[in-house]
Amino acid sequence: DQLRAALQQMPKAELHIHIEGSLEPELIFALAERNGVALNYASVEELRAAYAFTDLQSFLDIYYAGASVLLREQDFYDMTAAYLARAEADNVRHAEIFFDPQTHTARGVPMRTVIDGIHRACQDSPVSATLILSFLRHLSEEDAFATLEAALPLRDKYIGIGLDSSEVGNPPEKFARVFARCKELGFHLVAHAGEEGPPAYIGTALDLLKVERIDHGVRCLEDAALTARLAREQIALTVCPLSNVKLRVFDKMEQHNLLALLDAGLAVTVNSDDPAYFGGYMNDNFIATFEALPLGLSHAQRLARNGFAAAFLPAAQKQKYL
Ligand code: ADE
Ligand code: ZN
Repeated sequence: DQLRAALQQMPKAELHIHIEGSLEPELIFALAERNGVALNYASVEELRAAYAFTDLQSFLDIYYAGASVLLREQDFYDMTAAYLARAEADNVRHAEIFFDPQTHTARGVPMRTVIDGIHRACQDSPVSATLILSFLRHLSEEDAFATLEAALPLRDKYIGIGLDSSEVGNPPEKFARVFARCKELGFHLVAHAGEEGPPAYIGTALDLLKVERIDHGVRCLEDAALTARLAREQIALTVCPLSNVKLRVFDKMEQHNLLALLDAGLAVTVNSDDPAYFGGYMNDNFIATFEALPLGLSHAQRLARNGFAAAFLPAAQKQKYL
């Protein structure tokens, strides 16, 4: 119908996509074969059948296993090029792409292999694309500092720093010092908070890490004072609707709080998180959300505009979308 066509056709910015989460089962198998990596699954179908998640950790275990096929620069290039082609098909005009270097350097893959491969694919795409290096919060502060050190010679190839992986029990304060260093270095800062973790993590991500956007943040509505602050300061939330349903943050899309977040005056954006694992890319996220909730064209335009407004782009580059 008309709304669906409008959702598909409108120019979009994607601000929350983990590039390792765009690795489709077919590409996992192709790279496993190319690199001689053994997988614990006999076929694409068997792997896809394992994508029945009960919470964030049950997903992360499979996501890190899938990433183990990435060894060469060309592997990182091919993964990123495939995502950007899908993004282009969904009329994504700008993407800010997370990558998890520790997932790869821990397996002996050099930092430059990871960053050069992903960055070269961004350069070759018609989609505007920039990179955000994400620390794994289940690892130590020391490991994050070592990762930053290893990535600094390539600092022209990424624009920001993020924080992802297992949220509960790994609060923002664990990374306050390394984020302070990243701020001194001039990087944009974001963090996952309030996905599975409590709303208090959203406040500490803002106050202690000095982040400019919150990834997910959907649990903010449990705290009225926090919600009021996020609205007042217009802190963007990079919400990922299909992810939230697959990881059981909400049992069904009909129960998603995206409309309530909008009605609270928050700077909500729609994103795909890990599209190969959660059943869809940008347009799939928009369509699934608009089918389940009473949202219309004005909501669509507001969500798309919020994405560009919250993007780490020069004003001149995003002006035409605002
Ligand atoms: N890494 C990849 N996707 C993630 C998510 N949704 N939350 C935390 N860490 C992640
Ligand atoms: Zn995420």
